[in-house]
Amino acid sequence: MTQPIRYGMIGGGRDAFIGGVHRMAARLDDSMTLVAGALSSTPKKALASGLDLGLDSNRSYGTWNDMLVGESMLPESERMQCVVIVTPNNVHHAPAMAAMEAGFHVVCDKPMTCTNAEAQALVDTAKRTHRVFAVTYNYTGYPMVRQARDMVHAGSIGRVRKVFVEYLQGWLATPLEGDGQKQAHWRTDPTRAGAGGAMGDIGSHAENIMSFVTGLEVEQFCSDASAIVEGRAIDDDTAVLLRFAGGARGVLCASQVCVGHRNGLTLRVYGETGSLTWQQEHPDQLHVCSLEGHDTTLHRADAGLCEAAANATRLPGGHGEAFIEAFANIYRGAAAAMHADRDDGEAFGYQTAADGARGVRFINAVVDASGQGWTALEG
Ligand SMILES: NC(=O)c1ccc[n+]([C@@H]2O[C@H](COP(=O)([O-])OP(=O)(O)OC[C@H]3O[C@@H](n4cnc5c(N)ncnc54)[C@H](O)[C@@H]3O)[C@@H](O)[C@H]2O)c1
Repeated sequence: MTQPIRYGMIGGGRDAFIGGVHRMAARLDDSMTLVAGALSSTPKKALASGLDLGLDSNRSYGTWNDMLVGESMLPESERMQCVVIVTPNNVHHAPAMAAMEAGFHVVCDKPMTCTNAEAQALVDTAKRTHRVFAVTYNYTGYPMVRQARDMVHAGSIGRVRKVFVEYLQGWLATPLEGDGQKQAHWRTDPTRAGAGGAMGDIGSHAENIMSFVTGLEVEQFCSDASAIVEGRAIDDDTAVLLRFAGGARGVLCASQVCVGHRNGLTLRVYGETGSLTWQQEHPDQLHVCSLEGHDTTLHRADAGLCEAAANATRLPGGHGEAFIEAFANIYRGAAAAMHADRDDGEAFGYQTAADGARGVRFINAVVDASGQGWTALEG
């Protein structure tokens, strides 16, 4: 039996959001096991957070640099094999670079970096050091998203002509950052979030799921990135028109001021002979419509789904699977790649540093060219 990959986490300490989700996902299939941590920006809180999680006190570190040094000194059979990075966006690049240089694989949350140059450096370093680099674009882990991708690639809806993708939330409809809300505070600060506000935080997911399912490449775009809440230094509402290579057209919207929406991620793909719709708030279903007007709803765990969807399913239909299971599918794939020592996201089912870099370039281009009309997307 393969042993779980041993990992150390950076960020994800007391009061943090996504680190806890990563830890649950990593454990779901025993893909990975937490052995070390530098869990907070404050050394004292980092150490306390490690003890909360039952880490050995020698392996709960005050800083990520201490963790890399400390773990490197342990015998190979004990030391962590992978670093999981769940810090604000501006604290992804430096620890990821240092981790790979020290011989560790990396799992990093999105958006991968703030700048295009940092993103490219991670792509190049993953290649040179032969490390696995997985970006947790967790929506690619949902069985029915994998089913949608399989159907598009198999030609089930014909050549794709039009794509709508939207990710709508309402939690930043007021200046929450001014009340000291921690997650709002850094997400609306360009020095920590990067150039994209809503575009970086959730538009990144929209770009990724669109690309994952359709395989389309953006050639040109026309964007409008706005700060609707007065005084906000970063976009909280962005709309983008898209022209893809091959002629298809698209619309992408990312907004955090849409009152009433919680996590309204919806993807609609229209082909010559049919269409597909997936909504993350009803993740076990995929709606399919044919040119003749036959509407079908495919359900997770039903017979006849593609292999990628079936393999991403744990429970019988009717018992919901969602966010944590989708993350766990990414972890399972990344851990298998680490066991194989092969950074191949297509084969193992995760998004790579190259996918992350494409996402970062898209976010920055959309924000930079806002209001400037049609713009070519540089590769
Ligand atoms: N994939 C998803 O669905 C998803 C969802 C939420 C967040 N995210 C991403 O995850 C990351 C974290 O988001 P969050 O909402 O959990 O933020 P958060 O503010 O809740 O947590 C960030 C954590 O990082 C720690 N930290 C900051 N600087 C550090 C440093 N130098 N060393 C060690 N720890 C440090 C903080 O102390 C905190 O524990 C972001 O990149 C965000 O975009 C992804």
